Amino acid sequence: MAPQAQIARRFEPSVGESSFACDVIAGLTARPKRLPPKYFYDEAGSQLFEQITELPEYYPTRCELAILSEHGADMGRLLPSDTALVEFGSGSTRKARILLAAAPAITAYVPIDISSEMLANEAAALWRDHPQLAVLPVEADFTRPFRLPPPVAAQPRAGFFPGSTIGNFEPHEASAFLRHAARMLGRGAILIIGVDLIKDVGVLNAAYDDAAGVTAKFNLNLLARINRELEADFDLDTFSHQAFYNTERRRIEMHLASRKRQNVRICGRVFDFRAGETIHTENSYKYAIESFGALARGSGWTPRAVWTDEKGYFSVHALAVADH
Ligand code: TRP
Repeated sequence: MAPQAQIARRFEPSVGESSFACDVIAGLTARPKRLPPKYFYDEAGSQLFEQITELPEYYPTRCELAILSEHGADMGRLLPSDTALVEFGSGSTRKARILLAAAPAITAYVPIDISSEMLANEAAALWRDHPQLAVLPVEADFTRPFRLPPPVAAQPRAGFFPGSTIGNFEPHEASAFLRHAARMLGRGAILIIGVDLIKDVGVLNAAYDDAAGVTAKFNLNLLARINRELEADFDLDTFSHQAFYNTERRRIEMHLASRKRQNVRICGRVFDFRAGETIHTENSYKYAIESFGALARGSGWTPRAVWTDEKGYFSVHALAVADH
């Protein structure tokens, strides 16, 4: 018992350490080692992610934009007039803009994001371009309960969750998120949600391991960020990006693999890595149209419609809150 207690003590973050520090220490203490993907998106990471969306290999963004452009009007026809569109984790408003232009039923837009600066800037820019639209940003973690702005409570509501971000959750978390979204949006609500589809493994692998190495840089930026913010000494040249489709679990896994046996200092603590040992940084689950429909049905929603791009790479589903 004693040695174990000592180890536990050694890794217990001291008072005053940020939640970033706590999460990093907890993740690298776990076996297998892991890091929470939400920390990818600092300034540098967000810029790298923008670059990923333009890569020739990264099809999801292009496919989803094409689906929204081509079928946005059909999506809009599922919405009652005077609908408030609530976007979960809005980031840029690029995709919402397509829907807003195609769906005159939408008269209010509620972007929800934790990044207050991006939220305020994007909301202001959108309102400038759509002065007749009520733009009501909410600064919140969209996976937690939040309060909708009062005017929206009296309107029909539609949720918007593009980008296949649902795929970054474990299936049980995806189900919990769908239940949470149903609760937040309430009776009669519609959810428009982007879901990446199972496809040729070569296409999947290339999308997360591009030739130009941008996704590698994005993944490694997590270590660079830990160096910048937590007084760590990761040598980035000794870690490599690994991304591969796990057929059995129907997910892309992203890892950072240590090229050699080494120690790394973070916040005054020492973490050791075996040669080849990996830090698991993200999953991106892929679904078949039917399997996502089943997940939705089991999570308080009824599938209403689904659209795909011409290659059948990506899907956008319209779900309706189930009556009971
Ligand atoms: N949710 C998207 C996806 O899984 C976007 C994304 C999240 C992503 N993390 C990523 C893309 C890391 C590339 C690399 O595809």
